[in-house]
Amino acid sequence: MRLYIIGAGVIGRTHAEAAYKLSEPVQLRVADTNGDTLASFCEQFPEAVGFTNVQEMLNSEAAQKDDIVIISTPPLAHFDPTIEALESERHVLCEKPLAMNESQAREMIQIADKHTRLIGCCSVRFKGMPHMEAVKKVLRSGCLGDIYHVTFVNNWERSRSGIEYQPSSRWFLDSTKSGGGVLMDWGPYDFTTLNDILNPNKIVFNAAWSAKPHTEIDPLDSPFDVETHVGASMIYFNGSHPIHVHYERASCTHGEGYVKAEIEGTLGSLRWTPFDSKQPVFRRYDKQGQIIEEQVETGPRSQYTIFDNPLHHFYRKVKGLESHANVNDYALQNFQCLQSLYSVAATGQKQSIDFSSKGVTI
Ligand SMILES: NC(=O)c1ccc[n+]([C@@H]2O[C@H](COP(=O)([O-])OP(=O)(O)OC[C@H]3O[C@@H](n4cnc5c(N)ncnc54)[C@H](O)[C@@H]3O)[C@@H](O)[C@H]2O)c1
Repeated sequence: MRLYIIGAGVIGRTHAEAAYKLSEPVQLRVADTNGDTLASFCEQFPEAVGFTNVQEMLNSEAAQKDDIVIISTPPLAHFDPTIEALESERHVLCEKPLAMNESQAREMIQIADKHTRLIGCCSVRFKGMPHMEAVKKVLRSGCLGDIYHVTFVNNWERSRSGIEYQPSSRWFLDSTKSGGGVLMDWGPYDFTTLNDILNPNKIVFNAAWSAKPHTEIDPLDSPFDVETHVGASMIYFNGSHPIHVHYERASCTHGEGYVKAEIEGTLGSLRWTPFDSKQPVFRRYDKQGQIIEEQVETGPRSQYTIFDNPLHHFYRKVKGLESHANVNDYALQNFQCLQSLYSVAATGQKQSIDFSSKGVTI
């Protein structure tokens, strides 16, 4: 099969490495507008055919039905190459966040549907991992009783993309290029995980907020206008059953950093570390008035890393196999969660996303 990578930076290279773990040989093409980055990519992957122009790459040969184009540019440059790739009749796997805003995201899905192509989002990087599947299995077994509360907090003290992490990519800090801060960066994984586990037909965003704690090393020589700490109080509905969700995500906080993912039900609870698959999953329940804590069996670790997963899931979907990919409407729904959170934080007005009618209501 043929894989076209647009954006030869840090994450584009992880997709190229993932391609060599697919079950069939891959022919690699790559486009980057930066000639130096392109040259260093082609040095690392000498079999790749390089282009500095995206259209030239897409027009260089007729599309085949299982061609996949990966968009691994900064969010500002997701929309145009996605549309060009879909119009070239190829499937598109786009990096997270899917787009800069909801209207772009909707148009991307519409164009994909019009061309009967799949469009997926790399926000599924952690989906399908054994510890996540173990959480779902316990939850679906009913042994936790009625689920009434979920805590989903990932607060890191100093982990800002563009400062502490990958400081060479300052675009993460500039909302005109990134579309937003930590919510656009990590929120796609958070909501993909929450939605996968809780399987909602509707989410009500009751309240939300965002903040940007200052540090003495905040860059002054380039734009830095994005949030680094967000939170929301939501109700997930699975049918008519409400589950209250406390959500937080920080890449910078002066509070003590902590990670807590816990599902509480009337018969038990489940606690895990969503973004560290090496950590155990615990189930707690009552025996004769005492808490019992047991480690949940999660099975062997996957042969694929979080960097392999987006392409591997999407490839399976393109081939018509069972897959953890989120494509078309599902990709849009996850993106809508980010936009609703921003909107509620900005306006103070609650919002609902109704997954059955695909609509957002205020
Ligand atoms: N870095 C990570 O760890 C990481 C992890 C997961 C997802 N992502 C996502 O991957 C995407 C890219 O991030 P990155 O860290 O690889 O960025 P990067 O800055 O390392 O690389 C981006 C590349 O895109 C190229 N580019 C920009 N506009 C282009 C265009 N119009 N056409 C062709 N090439 C263009 C740039 O020249 C650059 O080489 C982002 O959406 C990011 O959120 C990054």
